[in-house]
Amino acid sequence: LRALGGEALWPPPAWLMRQAGRYLPEYRQVRANAGDFITLCTTPELAAEVTLQPIRRFGMEGAILFSDILMVPWALGQPLRFAEGEGPLLEPLRDAEAIAALDPAKLVARVAPILETVARVREGLATEAPRTTLIGFAGGCFTVACYMLEGRGSKEFAAARGLAYADPALFGRLIRTLQDATVEYLVAQAEAGAEALMLFDSWAGMLSPSQFRRWVIEPTAAITRALHRRCPGIPLIGFPRLAGPLLADYAARAGVDATAMDTSMDPRWAAQAVPPTMALQGNLDPQALVAGGAALEAEARSILAAMRGRPYVFNLGHGIVPQTPPEHVTALMRILRSA
Ligand code: CP3
Repeated sequence: LRALGGEALWPPPAWLMRQAGRYLPEYRQVRANAGDFITLCTTPELAAEVTLQPIRRFGMEGAILFSDILMVPWALGQPLRFAEGEGPLLEPLRDAEAIAALDPAKLVARVAPILETVARVREGLATEAPRTTLIGFAGGCFTVACYMLEGRGSKEFAAARGLAYADPALFGRLIRTLQDATVEYLVAQAEAGAEALMLFDSWAGMLSPSQFRRWVIEPTAAITRALHRRCPGIPLIGFPRLAGPLLADYAARAGVDATAMDTSMDPRWAAQAVPPTMALQGNLDPQALVAGGAALEAEARSILAAMRGRPYVFNLGHGIVPQTPPEHVTALMRILRSA
């Protein structure tokens, strides 16, 4: 929290995107007992347990709520399932009627179990790891719209990017629905005990510069304005993945308190493109964590050298992959602590 608030702490605090997940045997066991992924996300005792697993094993300074960005479309009434080996599958929104049928009135009631998870994790941290910050999250509006329109993962997300040009009024209605839902969802997470919040805009970098400003920066700025008013003192981390040089515009105009860097970002460039008072987060290549050894150490140290002297939170540049040996995470934490 101090680093997100603008203090240059050294060694820096750390957490890892997807730190709870299939690379951990204790996660795979809970996941197998839960059956499917949505049941895991909506069963507070199980979701709280897997949130805490990596904190117990590795002692990160940040715990990220165990859930998924697609729980917002699910809570708006769009059918969702996670098929083994296929990733998320949604019934794609085909027309204006489908977009108008999304039902924000259901949202807070449907996410109640997720809010209970937040409260349980906060309690668990208070006894087990009082120095660890609980981070809540949601997807960025553009990224969530990508999945809602395409119905699944994609290399192009042509349905969303195409609609944004072909019918910006309709695409804008979807973005606006998500913007309002995201504010309500994040305010509820903060009220349930989240101490910081993150917006994952994983596909932001697919947009042209003008579309990036319209569909990433503007909705994010509206969300951060509402959150700063309704939950003052809760820092917001923005992750516009693959934004490249647009990261500077995002940091200046999206209203976030901290900016997360993806794997492709040069931290030395970001250090001069983002105001020195704003925290940066990132951006070790998840594949360096799979490799381990000297490659891991060299990559981690070069990021640390670029971030020294500024507010900074160590993280990966994207989520941990399932092939990651847990011992490499232990080794990484040791490297960070000796920084
Ligand atoms: O980081 C954490 O530990 C917290 C939990 C979290 C998950 N997903 C759990 C998850 C968070 C913050 C997310 C965010 C998320 N979900 C994003 C944004 C970040 C990114 O990775 O770009 C996106 C795009 C999604 C959508 C999503 N969820 C996809 C594409 C997939 C399939 C890919 C995969 O790894 O299977 C998921 C499923 C998912 N979300 C899993 C986990 C642990 C794997 C599910 C399983 O256990 O089978």
